[in-house]
Amino acid sequence: MCGIVGYIGTEQAYPILIGGLHRLEYRGYDSAGIAMIANDGKLNIYKAKGKVSELENQSEDKDRSGTIGIAHTRWATHGGPTTANAHPHVSESGNLTLVHNGIIENYAVLRNQLMERGMHFQSETDTEVLVQFIEYVQQSLGVSLEVAVQTVLKRVIGAYAIVVLDRSNPDCLVAARKSSPLVVGIGDDRQEYFIASDASPIVEYTTRMVYLNDEEVVVCRRGEDLRVHTLTGEDVPVEVKNVKLDLAMLDKGGFPHFMLKEIFDQPNVLKDCMRGRLLPEHHRVVLSAVTEHHERLIQARRFIIVSCGTSWHAGLIGKQLIEHFCKIPVDVEYASEFRYRDPVIYPDDVVIAISQSGETADTLAAVSLAKEAGAFVFGVVNAVGSSIARNTDTGTYTHVGPEIGVASTKAFTGQVCVLTMLALAIGDAKGSISHEEYQKVIDELQVIPDKIERILAQNSQIETLSKIFTYAHNFLYLGRKWNFPVALEGALKLKEISYIHAEGYPAAEMKHGPIALIDKEMPVVFIATHHQLLEKIISNMQEVKSRNGRIIAIITEGDEVVKKIVSEYIEVPDTIACLAPLLSVIPLQLLAYHIAVQKGLDVDQPRNLAKSVTVE
Ligand code: G6P
Repeated sequence: MCGIVGYIGTEQAYPILIGGLHRLEYRGYDSAGIAMIANDGKLNIYKAKGKVSELENQSEDKDRSGTIGIAHTRWATHGGPTTANAHPHVSESGNLTLVHNGIIENYAVLRNQLMERGMHFQSETDTEVLVQFIEYVQQSLGVSLEVAVQTVLKRVIGAYAIVVLDRSNPDCLVAARKSSPLVVGIGDDRQEYFIASDASPIVEYTTRMVYLNDEEVVVCRRGEDLRVHTLTGEDVPVEVKNVKLDLAMLDKGGFPHFMLKEIFDQPNVLKDCMRGRLLPEHHRVVLSAVTEHHERLIQARRFIIVSCGTSWHAGLIGKQLIEHFCKIPVDVEYASEFRYRDPVIYPDDVVIAISQSGETADTLAAVSLAKEAGAFVFGVVNAVGSSIARNTDTGTYTHVGPEIGVASTKAFTGQVCVLTMLALAIGDAKGSISHEEYQKVIDELQVIPDKIERILAQNSQIETLSKIFTYAHNFLYLGRKWNFPVALEGALKLKEISYIHAEGYPAAEMKHGPIALIDKEMPVVFIATHHQLLEKIISNMQEVKSRNGRIIAIITEGDEVVKKIVSEYIEVPDTIACLAPLLSVIPLQLLAYHIAVQKGLDVDQPRNLAKSVTVE
């Protein structure tokens, strides 16, 4: 989704803004733009369709001077991905320019009203009404930029993170947010401020961050302390957080793509995820959120998991873990459906919100709904300080580091790892898990990173295997019980980056429809690790084989029975059933990755997708 960067300070703004846009590329976008007030006071705006590198090419021989500016990557909603629709947008007089992430729902009405007052619009976007309206208020009421911003935002329906630059006021940036993230970094005291959609463009300059809350306006003025106030003008105390991100996590580290790096990161980041929480020497799992709130958690009438995309798949595994270890019923909901379905939520329900970015608009809205209904809300979030992390009652960070590849990999295994520890900790507090099983899972969880390393060592074999399947137009992924959500996740990975249609199904459901699709062209991936129900999956394989389907099986190391049935297989180390997803998903990530690379596709930034879905 759209990415925002702003800078005001003593350095040249251009490299900071362009560098920031590159850091935000992972969010997904289709055009980019930049506006700076040059040293001679002129407002320079450059825009390009396509990548940030296009924008750099275009601005190469132009004036890039100035120490204040704003920049934007746009993921098209209203109006196609054209240069005219790219941000920054400019006001009628050419004085104001603005970048925006979000959707202004009542833009059509506002636009008509402004056109009736003689204003002209250059784009098809909803955003342009904001900049025009702000200038209209500024001029007709004779108020300052910040008061005009406040006044306009009170009239706006929808979601926004905005930054406004005023040519006639080159010492100040005004920004605001509602339902779309925005963070301000404080550089040199009272001289330098950075603004961005998330901390990644800022961390190389400062660790001092201020996260804006909904309906807050911030004024960054040279020579003054940061000022934050509400839309009604009340002062908000500025809370500065110390945010540290490992900069190495924001680079490819020698890998050709972020996705591959992040797949290979998994052994290490899962150790980070478990550090200080999984205590094998004490034979315990300790999650501070559970220690603090165990009464509330063990007394839950029901858990409701809300999430989207890959996080929803992790939720399906979380359901099985919590039901198995805690004997508490769990519903798993698409956040986007839950929020509009009029769901029955009881005050003694616990809602678990799972999100890598912590900014997914639908998940955030589901959290608000759950809180209004009085439920206790627990976050399983990766991005520290994100909106969902700040809006939940408590939670456990996955701590897998920034995930840049649009197709989620390490975030998924981190979520499953946290959900496993959560289910163990609640099950232990409730007394619903036997001592033996508790110990067994703790011991096995500890060796999962090493077992993932063994799968990663087969990368080149998986690459060779992938070459056979680039021809396919459809794929079927089948698994059962713990591995059913892995089938869904494997299919999603393939769809996202290779644009091959793929479906995940519970293997036993195959006979109720998908079997009709099977012929010699159809690859069928069976996740057939060595657990309960394997015999039944083997029967499904025979059914596919007798219809000439091409099977790729994910099997447990040394499974000679399945090897005799299928010609293509990938072996994963043995583990206990409930931890199987942490291993069986790895070859599916690699398979999807290599197929997309073979097809010459943009793995890290697949078409139309966004990493952080901040609009509904
Ligand atoms: C987008 C991303 C997915 C992600 C989903 C949910 O679709 O491309 O990778 O799983 O959003 O995002 P979240 O940040 O809430 O986990």
